[in-house]
Amino acid sequence: MGDLLYAGVQLVHNIGAAAVVGSPAVAWWLVLANQVPAELLDRPTATALVQRRLAWFTLLAWSTQVASGIGFGVTTYYLKHELPELTGVGLAALGIKVTCALVCLALATLYLRASSRWPAHRQLRVWQILFVLGLTALISAAFLRWYG
Ligand code: HEM
Repeated sequence: MGDLLYAGVQLVHNIGAAAVVGSPAVAWWLVLANQVPAELLDRPTATALVQRRLAWFTLLAWSTQVASGIGFGVTTYYLKHELPELTGVGLAALGIKVTCALVCLALATLYLRASSRWPAHRQLRVWQILFVLGLTALISAAFLRWYG
């Protein structure tokens, strides 16, 4: 039963991990592709709409990571009646993940509120930051796993 619970949380967490890295990567590519002069007038509008959906998706993915990350802790507490003891590298890795999550939640929210008034280069920068922070959290996950 315990293994099934952990597997369920891990399943959600792993899919979220793919999404926090994958969606900014697609949006980054879209912004670059859109800088090529468009023959079709409605093309930039369509691209902006797709980017907006990707921003929502990114926000959802990071929220999922926070919720399922907490889910790991709750599962351990439920099964063992104590929280995992983290020190050193493991604790630092978790701290990096939480920091990345907070920054990315704020950035994706800002993007949804303000990006329609931003030039393409600023939109691109935000997607790049979201991608790099997603990757940073993914790298930290390896250290959390083996030092945690
Ligand atoms: C607030 C945010 C997060 C929290 C609290 C959190 C917490 C955790 C915890 C407690 C584990 C289990 C560690 C273990 O098995 O010893 C874990 C595993 C994992 N996390 Fe996160 N995480 C967060 C965000 C992220 C993000 C953003 C990503 C990816 C971009 C990510 C990717 C992973 C992966 C891939 C694993 C599985 C590692 C493995 O067993 O090989 N996490 N996370």
